[in-house]
Amino acid sequence: MSTVLEINHLTVSFDTPDGAVQAVNDVSLLVEEGECVGLVGESGSGKSQTFMAAMGLLADNATVSGAIHFEGSNLLTANEKELNKLRGERIAMIFQDPMTSLTPHMKIGRQLAEVLIEHRGVGKAEARKQARAMLERVHFPEAERRLDMYPHELSGGLRQRVMIAMALMCEPAMLIADEPTTALDVTVQAQILDLLMEIKDSLGTAIVLITHDLGVVAGLADRVAVMYGGRIVEKGAVADMFESPAHPYTQGLLACTPRLDEDITALVTIPGQPPNAQSLPGGCSFHPRCTYVTERCKAERPILETTAKYRAKACHLDALEAAE
Ligand SMILES: Nc1ncnc2c1ncn2[C@@H]1O[C@H](COP(=O)(O)OP(=O)(O)O)[C@@H](O)[C@H]1O
Ligand code: SF4
Ligand SMILES: [Mg+2]
Repeated sequence: MSTVLEINHLTVSFDTPDGAVQAVNDVSLLVEEGECVGLVGESGSGKSQTFMAAMGLLADNATVSGAIHFEGSNLLTANEKELNKLRGERIAMIFQDPMTSLTPHMKIGRQLAEVLIEHRGVGKAEARKQARAMLERVHFPEAERRLDMYPHELSGGLRQRVMIAMALMCEPAMLIADEPTTALDVTVQAQILDLLMEIKDSLGTAIVLITHDLGVVAGLADRVAVMYGGRIVEKGAVADMFESPAHPYTQGLLACTPRLDEDITALVTIPGQPPNAQSLPGGCSFHPRCTYVTERCKAERPILETTAKYRAKACHLDALEAAE
């Protein structure tokens, strides 16, 4: 397997009138060809900004350091022209709200065709044919008839399928899906996750699945990284993470993830609030919420240590104690 994306020591901070916001701190992550990596954490933990950095889409008040290599090019030093080409053809990103990617006043068939006309120089008729084929591939019902519809004429689930079809038009090596199912109801959510799984298996597209919901990555991801306060606090193969979460925060997230065989009224939440990226707690950022906290945790930040292949955690406890 070759590496598609390699993020090394990525740091993103935002300059604001109230001081610096440390959004992403020393994040390193690998995405291999054709695999799905889940990036999980509560809102504000730095998941989206990690990949906005990769896409060259950070806001103007951002300062970024580290390196992000995609198929050999450093995305952080690439110029706008190189980035535009990579973004259209090799990397695609989809969002929670499809309307951020779709143009409201343009028929969906034309929007899809435009991608091929612009990036591949394909003729209009051929582009429309391929647009229809791609819609069928993402199981969009009555594709031919709906090519001439506007986004607002479609349901949320169908709009999400159009956005996925658009992302796949140039057969990218990697698809970044940022909370792709958060706005959808449970049944449609499951259908979209099935579709992403099918894309990974049939097209070999590497997928980065960003979500606040650990349950979403369970069926789809090969490996998972958990973020807290802008840092990766644990990573590992998905089965290992679910079987034996080593970091207290991952344990807490798992306890909050409802299972089909559990009474939903028994749902727990992690006590306390996610940290403010403007004033992160000293030592381990999770310490104000952690039941295992010691004096050392308040004073010394734990480093992310590799414990086995693909497995790492940032916590002063050893794995055994934490799992108790
Ligand atoms: N342009 C900006 N200026 C200041 N802070 C920002 C900006 N964009 C994002 N942030 C902050 O960066 C942190 C991480 O955001 P984000 O990566 O979007 O979190 P999430 O894990 O929910 O995707 C948050 O505290 C967010 O408020
Ligand atoms: S380092 Fe300490 S506070 Fe942080 S997660 Fe581990 S035990 Fe909890
Ligand atoms: Mg986000």
